[in-house]
Amino acid sequence: MDAIDWSNLSFGYIKTDYNVRSHYKDGKWSTPAETTSEEINLHMAATCLHYGQESFEGLKAFKGKDGKTRIFRMRENALRMISSSQGIMMAELPVEIFEEAVVKAVKLNERFVPPYESGASLYIRPLLIGVSPQVGVKPASEYLFVVFVTPVGPYFKEGFKPTPVAIFRGYDRAAPLGTGTIKIGGNYAASLVAGDRAHKMGYSAVLYLDAKEKKYLDECGPANFFGIKNNTYITPLSSSVLPSITNKSLMQLAQDMGMKVEQRQVPEEELSTFEEAGQVGTAAVISPILRVDDIDENKSYVISKDGNAGPISTLLYNKLKGIQLGDEEDTHGWVTVLY
Ligand code: PLP
Ligand code: COI
Repeated sequence: MDAIDWSNLSFGYIKTDYNVRSHYKDGKWSTPAETTSEEINLHMAATCLHYGQESFEGLKAFKGKDGKTRIFRMRENALRMISSSQGIMMAELPVEIFEEAVVKAVKLNERFVPPYESGASLYIRPLLIGVSPQVGVKPASEYLFVVFVTPVGPYFKEGFKPTPVAIFRGYDRAAPLGTGTIKIGGNYAASLVAGDRAHKMGYSAVLYLDAKEKKYLDECGPANFFGIKNNTYITPLSSSVLPSITNKSLMQLAQDMGMKVEQRQVPEEELSTFEEAGQVGTAAVISPILRVDDIDENKSYVISKDGNAGPISTLLYNKLKGIQLGDEEDTHGWVTVLY
């Protein structure tokens, strides 16, 4: 392969050596096996193409100073994929098969795990799709699980530098009792138009309000939202937000640091009281928020007065990265050390 410029990677696809697959047929999952093919041969009436039977996950592996590769909270992603399967009637992939496939994909592509100093990581993308044909609206009887990996840099090109986000009242990402809490492609399709509009206007992401009342903060297009004030970590509780594993980790770390943690409805006006705020997720890590503009209401909430990340976001970021890289003790058992 051409030499990879590890320190200047963006969040994109780079071909690696292998991906790992398991098929579900007649009630059984096959043993995960590697392939070098980047393609999937699909029936034209596969349910993933017509009725959106598709879910995916995102997690990361990191190279430590000690040369060991660590995968962060893999079991949580396996459990969330089961919850996604329950939401759209797909076969449930056992946690053990998910973990076996992820570990195999990382080990087989070891040479793509970015070096410790680079700041980059190996992004792991598990994918589950309905592959057997249906013409009526019904779930498939056969499924394909694929894990591919690709080395990535920051999701937002600004990295840890604060960026502005936009509220648009004309778009919802997910319905109040819809599919927002599971990780399925349809949610992302529904976010493309608003996301594109935000990017063209210079915002890093859309901050969605709750779809029912348009009163409370939900989450950003690719990440959860958190705010900090009075030594308290505050994040929205909502029936249409994806339960972020990174956010769950930060809530724990904030508590470990002696902060209060509140998961509750967050009215939009509360933005004016936050000392810090950020987007949080596997791809985004912590991406501090500079300003929130409510475009339709012509309101603006400045979060970062000096344009820099705040002290608590910085502490949380360093602690999280430290655990992921193996520089900090993994007191909660979040990390799988490969070798
Ligand atoms: N919210 C949305 C809509 C996402 O796509 C993601 C990314 O996975 C997150 C939140 C963050 O979740 P996690 O921290 O588990 O990656
Ligand atoms: C992730 O953070 O892993 C995501 O899936 C967000 C985005 C790339 C869709």
